[in-house]
Order: sequence, then C-alpha cells, then structure tokens
Amino acid sequence: MKAVAVLPGKPNSVFLTDLAKPSVDDVPGGRGVLVKVLKVGVDATDREINEAKYGNAPPGYNFLVLGHESFGIVEAVGPNVRHVKPGDYVTATVRRPGSSIYDQIGTCDMTSEETYYERGINLLHGFMTEHYVDDAEYIVRMPVGLKHLHVLAEPMSCAAKAVQQAYEVQRRLKVWRPRIAYVMGAGQIGLLTTLILRLRGLEVYTLARSPAPTLSSEIIEGLGAHYVSTRERSLVQLRGDVGKPDLIVDATGASSVSFGAMEVLGHNGVLVWTSITGGKNHITIEGDRINLDWVLGNKLLLGSVNANREHFESGIRDLALGEMMYPGVVQKILTNPIRGIENYQAMMDLLMSDRPPLKVYVEIADG
Ligand code: BGC
Ligand code: ZN
Repeated sequence: MKAVAVLPGKPNSVFLTDLAKPSVDDVPGGRGVLVKVLKVGVDATDREINEAKYGNAPPGYNFLVLGHESFGIVEAVGPNVRHVKPGDYVTATVRRPGSSIYDQIGTCDMTSEETYYERGINLLHGFMTEHYVDDAEYIVRMPVGLKHLHVLAEPMSCAAKAVQQAYEVQRRLKVWRPRIAYVMGAGQIGLLTTLILRLRGLEVYTLARSPAPTLSSEIIEGLGAHYVSTRERSLVQLRGDVGKPDLIVDATGASSVSFGAMEVLGHNGVLVWTSITGGKNHITIEGDRINLDWVLGNKLLLGSVNANREHFESGIRDLALGEMMYPGVVQKILTNPIRGIENYQAMMDLLMSDRPPLKVYVEIADG
C-alpha cells in the first residue's frame, strides 16, 4: 500500500513509499481496528517536519510516514472491539503513551517524560497511507452528520484542550466569568478556538495580519466574532477600544506574538500558548515591566499541546453544536483538497508556499 514519507533531518525530502497493508491481528488482545483512510490533513507541523525543523523517524527506520489529521472508515475490527464497527467513520488520536503516570491514565497529552510518541510526527508512523491499524483505545468515532468536516476533528481536539485547560486552571479563582477573549492568529486553530469560545458565550476578537475581507475574516464574522487586522489596529489600540481580555489564546506560530500578547492580558487572566515554533528566532521583551505587571495582576501563562480522547470527544460535540449555531461556516476552512495520494508533491508545494492556503488535505479514497 502507498504511503507518503519524509527523511527527518533532510529538508524537502517528501516521497511516496510502499508498505505492507496492516491487519487487525497486528494489535494484541483482539483490540485492533483496521481503518481505510479517506482523507488526511496537513498543517504547519507537517511543514516544519518537511523543513527538517521538527519530527523524528521511528526506531529502526530512516523515514517517517506523515499524517496526523486523519479521517477514515472502519474496515475490520478485532473480536474485543466494542465501540466501533465496520462502516463507521472515525478519526484517531495522535499521541501514544510512554510510561509516566499521566500516560498510564489515558492522558498521554500530559506526559511528564521528555520523549513523546506521536503518529506522523515523532517516533511513530502517521496516517498518510491507504490503511492503518491501531488499538481501539485510540480510535474515535465521528458522527456521520459531521463527515463533511472530516480532517478538522484533530485540530479541533487541540483547540478543545487549550480552552478546557484554561477553564480548568481558572478554578484557582473562586469565580471566573470570562467575558472578552482575544484569539491570536486566524489559521485553523485560531478559527476553531474562536468557534469554541463563541459557543461558550464570550465576546471574541480574532486577530490576523491581513485587512478584511479575507476568507478567515468571513469565517470569524460568520461565527459572530470580531475580526481585527493587526495592520489596521494594534493590540494596544484594541485593548483601549474594547477592554483587556480575560483570556488570550495564541495560535500564530510566531513567538514575537505569543510574548507580545503578555502586554494586554487583564487581571487574573490566562494566556494560552499553542504554537509549535520549531525555528530559532530570538526576540527582545521589556522584562521588568511585564514581570511587574504579571505579578501585580495574578496573571497566568499556560502551554497546551496535543489532545487526549476526551478532548476529541468534546471537540466533536462542539463541531456538532457549531453546525447548529453557525450552519455551513466551519466547512469553509477546508479550502484545498488534493485528489489522490500520488499527488503528494502538489500537497507539499501548497503547504510550503509563501502564503499557504487555510487548509490543505489529501483525498486518499472516496467513501
Ligand atoms: C498536532 C498535535 C501535536 C503537536 C506537537 C500538532 O500539529 O496537531 O497533535 O501534539 O503538533 O507535535
Ligand atoms: Zn497538527
């Protein structure tokens, strides 16, 4: 079966390879789920892997099969699989457990070990193949009514975790009723985070560089949020106009922005960083002033990566609710399908372009 892989450490090395088709029996205990892959999305992480800034091959291999945003249909299940059956639409979680306590209780997204295992990213092959097999534990059912949002389940899970973590840490306050949120960045994570926060009733300002109208500004307004072009309005101006935010989620991929956001957060607020910045940029900040402001305001900085099964499930529920509240808006994110796994080079060219489109994904099979 065909698979798209890279040679980690070697820039622009993407190639098509051939692997044996897996079987449900590859997973012990009768818990295997064999999935026929229908679509796989790519994002900035795949871009960094292709630039050799990030990612590692599995032990014993010099290549890494790409793909962590998967959507497929179950083809076969082992005798001890209960929650999915052949014909069901599914996605899969990305990280697999190491051995810390967090890994052992189904929360490997919170592993305390330096080494983490992620399919298509780090030390494990990904889903950009015709079939994959995995333990039922990692297979998440997608409702048939959300089939049209396919590869967004995984990025949605990361956005769901980021917001859930913010609410969780704010239990330090006896009362937390966030009213205003800023979302930095209008890529897929910024847009999906905007959706989640709107569904929780916040007034959301989502920031990106380009002046409106853009596709992202249209989506943001379609979600009842406010689009702010940072070319037209600075963060400090925005703060003056609408007030300091209770919550900021950064999803820009630019560390200058993630640190810059520290300048505007309100008292008792929380700033969540979600970007995977594999580069080596240095920035300068006004350390003393920010330090003082953060101490005097009891402010909190939170990093959030990956997502476990619960975040996939809550993300999928929010996608469903989003379809009820803002019908047809979220699917506008899915801009650039590439038909056929053999067209992987066209996929990578789009992803590597100076201004990559909002969402590139490969259609591997129909279904
Ligand atoms: C993926 C996450 C992963 C993170 C870090 C993101 O692109 O969506 O699942 O944990 O990269 O590798
Ligand atoms: Zn990703």
